[in-house]
Amino acid sequence: MKAIVQDRYGSADVLELREIDRPTATDDEVLVRVQAASVHADVWHAMKGVPYVLRAMGSGVRAPKHHVPGTDLAGVVESIGTNVTRFRPGDEVFGLSISANLWRNGGAFAEYAAVAAATLELKPTRLTFEQAAAVPTSGSLAVQHVRDEARIRPGQTILINGAGGAVGSFAVQLAKAWGATVTAVDATEKLEMLRSIGADRVLDYRKEDFTRRDERYDVVLDIAGNHPWRECRRALAPNGTYVLSGFDQYGASGHRWFGSLGRFARLIVIAPFVSALHPFRGAKDPGDRLVVLKDLIDTGKVTPFIDRTFPLSEVPEAIRYLETGRARGKIVVTVPSG
Ligand SMILES: NC(=O)c1ccc[n+]([C@@H]2O[C@H](COP(=O)([O-])OP(=O)(O)OC[C@H]3O[C@@H](n4cnc5c(N)ncnc54)[C@H](OP(=O)(O)O)[C@@H]3O)[C@@H](O)[C@H]2O)c1
Repeated sequence: MKAIVQDRYGSADVLELREIDRPTATDDEVLVRVQAASVHADVWHAMKGVPYVLRAMGSGVRAPKHHVPGTDLAGVVESIGTNVTRFRPGDEVFGLSISANLWRNGGAFAEYAAVAAATLELKPTRLTFEQAAAVPTSGSLAVQHVRDEARIRPGQTILINGAGGAVGSFAVQLAKAWGATVTAVDATEKLEMLRSIGADRVLDYRKEDFTRRDERYDVVLDIAGNHPWRECRRALAPNGTYVLSGFDQYGASGHRWFGSLGRFARLIVIAPFVSALHPFRGAKDPGDRLVVLKDLIDTGKVTPFIDRTFPLSEVPEAIRYLETGRARGKIVVTVPSG
């Protein structure tokens, strides 16, 4: 089968389209004929091997242990392992080829992927394979931030900083679906898209600094992470909640050993004294995040926003485009049938 393969860490130049053996599904796995996959920040981290701490977390110290990148996919079930009862050959599915928040290659950028049945769901019928592949990691992270960490309630106000990217475009729609009033902050080119997906107000970060305005919010969800905590707290209402996503701008933050983990560590240290910080809330995945997304997608409350699609052979270009930060919403990879 055709797959994108990497033998060493580095820029998108290390990614090559090659012919390799098809994977085999184990007893608890499903072999998926991949129709579409998507790129996101963790795919970039696993490709680069930075921050270096990820290499010690199972990605491979000198070179990637797993050679085919990609974690998010949508496709058709080709065959099932002997213990799998939830799916049948021919089912259209979407999901994660590895559990969320693992910083390693997951094998999704290929014609076939062997995926644990537990991390797949039936594809929402109203979505194309491309749209469905855009959902798993970015959408699940948005559920983690908005539901599990911010614990958003109807009638609350939320400001989402860096709302126009992959996670933010889901977070805006989730917060609206759960009854919040949403102020979305991002670059000029992304504001129209943010209005189109439901943001009540938009702020252009090049013209306005949300930490210096008079408005106060029940929740600040900080995806861009470009202001220190002492500035962000000015935008919080009394008893407000601050949630940090931990963006390191594709390496531009310069923290090569620990990435954005250093900033989380500083918040953890002060959290016992600051009521707005709940660093461990939502850390444990309740396992229902993809199901919650599927339900909201089925009822039309959430629709993935796709900026561009690239064919499998152009995954390096897709990653280079991701690195620019210019994408509105998600970047998707289509996998032509071989
Ligand atoms: N997406 C995923 O599936 C995923 C997976 C694992 C972890 N994460 C983490 O989730 C976080 C966000 O990821 P993402 O995928 O949503 O990133 P993204 O798609 O690159 O979005 C980040 C957004 O922030 C905007 N931004 C940049 N500078 C800003 C500023 N000064 N003020 C306000 N907005 C600014 C960017 O716009 P411009 O560049 O146009 O300015 C972009 O729209 C990161 O911590 C990432 O590591 C994401």
